[in-house]
Amino acid sequence: METVISSDIELAAAFLRQEAVIGMPTETVYGLAGNAFSPKAVASIFAIKQRPAFNPLILHIPGIDALDDVVKDIPETATELMRRFWPGPITLLLPKRPAVPDTVTAGKPTVAVRVPAHPMALALLRTTGFPLVAPSANPFGSISPTRAIHVAEYFDGLIPLVLDGGECPRGVESTIVGFPNGEPVVYRLGAISLEAIEAITGPVRVLKIAEAVPDAPGMLLRHYAPRTPLMLADNAREEALKHPNLNIGILTFDAPVDTGFETHQEVLSPAGSDEIAAAALYDALHRLDRLGLDLIIAQRFPDEGLGRTINDRLLRGARL
Ligand code: TXA
Ligand code: MG
Repeated sequence: METVISSDIELAAAFLRQEAVIGMPTETVYGLAGNAFSPKAVASIFAIKQRPAFNPLILHIPGIDALDDVVKDIPETATELMRRFWPGPITLLLPKRPAVPDTVTAGKPTVAVRVPAHPMALALLRTTGFPLVAPSANPFGSISPTRAIHVAEYFDGLIPLVLDGGECPRGVESTIVGFPNGEPVVYRLGAISLEAIEAITGPVRVLKIAEAVPDAPGMLLRHYAPRTPLMLADNAREEALKHPNLNIGILTFDAPVDTGFETHQEVLSPAGSDEIAAAALYDALHRLDRLGLDLIIAQRFPDEGLGRTINDRLLRGARL
């Protein structure tokens, strides 16, 4: 099978109706999308991504009007969050209706659901008329894709099409909020900052990495990882100076690091914007990872706004 990159929404819809799996742009990252109600498509997603069956998928719907078909008993706080942030990068964990297949939720009583803010994703959802399940379109554990070409390179020959919607404007995954015992809890930091969520909900607890995946904490800890060893450093310059003989990549927030020897540097936002840095993060990691470096040193970000999300991803991608 040849993997085609195209912006033809009708073609994408035709593949989805045939229960195929395709690459789909969203405002966060590209997803590996299939018809949520097709057992064949759902099984293909797990197989192509090499994702463990216990790790549930996110259901994408075109609007709040489609929500009642898939979930019930929506807490008031969840309604406030979706009114404020949908379409957009917040995923809510809500009690599922029986129509949602257990394979999608990995047997859990809740389903993760969101309305993406990408015009092509919305058009595709409206055209097909069925919800789409879509995990990030990367092999399990590796860096998420923010361009169509990343998806085509990961899954060349395994999927028929990547719908090309350009670069993902947010560049990091959605923030996931669940409501165990009715109280909002952040399960995954993401493209909407904790501060923006707390402005609606009041103070919320953020699950620690291991808590979020009680079934397999160690296994899911390493995620979002480049092939090159990655280190998250409090002081990138000091770390780099320890390894003058290595071929080093450095990832920083707003300014390059002066090491006195040659390194490959990626500065995510010279203007110091956490949103621009988040949008640039995975693309920069993909670029550094292609250089065949010995080591990537990432400077820890200020732990506020989307800096928190960036640190979370770097920590999970780090092997050192
Ligand atoms: O921005 C995003 O959320 C992207 C785009 C494509 O929409 N999708 C994405 O999907 O990041 P994925 O599969 O890579 O990450 C979904 C996360 C997984 O860590 C999964 O464990 C968690 O959501 N999840 C899904 N359903 C859940 C549930 N019912 N309870 C707890 N966690 C759940
Ligand atoms: Mg993912």
